[in-house]
Amino acid sequence: MNQSLKRKIEAEIGKITAIKRMPEQGCTSVVFRLETVEQSYLLKSSFKDRYRVWLRSEAQVLQKFEYGSTPLPAFYAFIEEERASHLIMSYVDGISLTSALNQAGSLSIKKTLITGFGEFLNQFHETEQVQPEKEHSWLEHQFSLASSYVESGQAEGDMKLLEYMISNKPKPVRQTMIHGDCTTDNVLVVKGKVEVFIDVSGMTVGDPRYDEALAISKFHEQPVLKEAFYQGYSRNRISQTEYEYFEEGLYMFF
Ligand SMILES: Nc1ncnc2c1ncn2[C@@H]1O[C@H](COP(=O)(O)OP(=O)(O)O)[C@@H](O)[C@H]1O
Ligand SMILES: [Mg+2]
Repeated sequence: MNQSLKRKIEAEIGKITAIKRMPEQGCTSVVFRLETVEQSYLLKSSFKDRYRVWLRSEAQVLQKFEYGSTPLPAFYAFIEEERASHLIMSYVDGISLTSALNQAGSLSIKKTLITGFGEFLNQFHETEQVQPEKEHSWLEHQFSLASSYVESGQAEGDMKLLEYMISNKPKPVRQTMIHGDCTTDNVLVVKGKVEVFIDVSGMTVGDPRYDEALAISKFHEQPVLKEAFYQGYSRNRISQTEYEYFEEGLYMFF
């Protein structure tokens, strides 16, 4: 880390005593664990414009949701430099659910983890909304974002798919709080249980079926694991058509 950035960070959290690159890295950032005498922090840095915009939204989400009311890391600082942005949050002593599932020694451990994930998401979708939203307004917003990503050549999906998505919207459902990128990569397991959401730039009020589809995508073809999820996620079960709409359609643009 360069000295100028280190100084800026130390102005926020005090003297850094150790810096360790995290063994697990994401796709849009570089993550480090920072130690001070008092506590550990997570430094998440992004360099590409699009990812810097996402990191800024993530900082805003962490600031907006009062620490403790939603299971998120605590916000400490957001630093924007000419070529990079940096978010400092509390360090959670856990691993992603993806890693926990890879390390699980038995099917029964996997099922327990996944049922816990289902319960965790169920509880989140049942929490009261911060601000009520009209049906489909989140989806409309996703279409306009998707369209800008297609135009600037930053999306896997193309205009034809987007047009199909726009003219084949699923029947509206009541909007809830959503994570917005709810894969097994973006929840942390602490002491054997899914406890914390990370990577929360898309957290807002929206269509809970998007979270549900991404949540089950890693084990969608494994009925036993999918069933374990629905033991915990009892509020709804998406149809195959809805799953395809969100996971194989909308997700192609993000
Ligand atoms: N607050 C945190 N505490 C501990 N580890 C974290 C925290 N936030 C992120 N991580 C680690 O960093 C990795 C990447 O973070 P993530 O926010 O998902 O980045 P990306 O947006 O690049 O996917 C995660 O898999 C996790 O291991
Ligand atoms: Mg991630």
